[in-house]
Amino acid sequence: MSNSIMNTYGRLPVTFERGEGVWLFDREGNRYLDALSGIGVCALGHADPDVAEAISAQAKRLLHTSNLYQIDNQQALADKLTDISGMTNCFFSNSGAEANEAAIKIARKYGYEKGVKTPTIITFNQSFHGRTLATLTATGNSAIKQGFGPLPDGFIHLDYNNPEQVDALSDNPNIVAVFVEPVQGEGGLNVPDDTYLDELYKICRKNGWLLMLDEVQTGNGRTGTYFAYQHHDFIPDVVTTAKGLGNGVPIGACLAHGEAAGILVPGTHGSTYGGNPLATAAALTTVGRIYDGKLTDHTAQMGTYFLEQFKSRLADNNKVANIRGKGLMLGIELTEDCTQLVAEALNKGALINVTAGKVIRLLPPLIIQQEEADQLVDIVCDLIAGLG
Ligand SMILES: Cc1ncc(COP(=O)(O)O)c(C=O)c1O
Repeated sequence: MSNSIMNTYGRLPVTFERGEGVWLFDREGNRYLDALSGIGVCALGHADPDVAEAISAQAKRLLHTSNLYQIDNQQALADKLTDISGMTNCFFSNSGAEANEAAIKIARKYGYEKGVKTPTIITFNQSFHGRTLATLTATGNSAIKQGFGPLPDGFIHLDYNNPEQVDALSDNPNIVAVFVEPVQGEGGLNVPDDTYLDELYKICRKNGWLLMLDEVQTGNGRTGTYFAYQHHDFIPDVVTTAKGLGNGVPIGACLAHGEAAGILVPGTHGSTYGGNPLATAAALTTVGRIYDGKLTDHTAQMGTYFLEQFKSRLADNNKVANIRGKGLMLGIELTEDCTQLVAEALNKGALINVTAGKVIRLLPPLIIQQEEADQLVDIVCDLIAGLG
């Protein structure tokens, strides 16, 4: 069958017509509990009235001007994000991969300014940083790179959650940065030890390397604090985010602190759309609702609730290898491949995801309530109980 859409995604046979909160409705009027939020994007759920109002009011005034001019919404969003994060400066992009490109460029230029000849960034196995050439090279998954060489130089991949391996490269003069997800999302919902990021921070300080966090997925409240590093006591040098930032309107950000904040100057980086009046109107409302509305506290509570429920309901199931998560980033690792559960869940009225072959990944909207959580737990436990 011919299809005019380029064949980059295997899609499920369903078309959604509208959404409301955690629910999506298809053309036939069937209702689905969305436990994926458009892959961690719709933190406030679907058709949020405040976001809809902000977008529509802005669209009636002005959509776009370019970054050749002052943009009030962009300034307000940068002020808000730097306030929340303790970072000092912000660059706006249209996606997570682009936010990460900005981070990679900052690290390389930081290195050159220190006289490093071949600036090299440490990233990790099973990581995911995006699909552009530099970000897929940073990504620790060889399948994603297959067929796209020659790839850019300057990345070293080490094991995740192993600070000793990072420290062992301390006398490598080419290393300029460590780039890491606080929780690996695409790579299997891998939650590192509580001390892991603190250890990386110490190693980076000792060596003059930048600690750069990819919070594209973990940011914007997802783990129960606005950014995941805020479970800790340090401030990183660079943080990237996207996904939940605009609740569905494409926007990403690269935030920097200290020396890293002054690296990019006019002529070194840019984006036609990045941080335009429309996207920043959506993001300002979204960030306000998540941060000022203390949705992070609710997220942390619901995350704990889900983990308790899954752990008690699945305790005796020998197909379950591990249950883990942080906030509303939840993973149930099975002992066998379970990608078929995505379609089975759809038939039962839920959208879920399976990553790394055998990890059920749930990223429900942060606004999910206990009654909806109970329905989701029932569906997921039924699915697992039905495994042959
Ligand atoms: C940690 C992380 N970084 C980067 C990306 C890429 O973001 P985008 O698809 O918006 O380019 C993703 C997307 O899943 C992600 O999870």
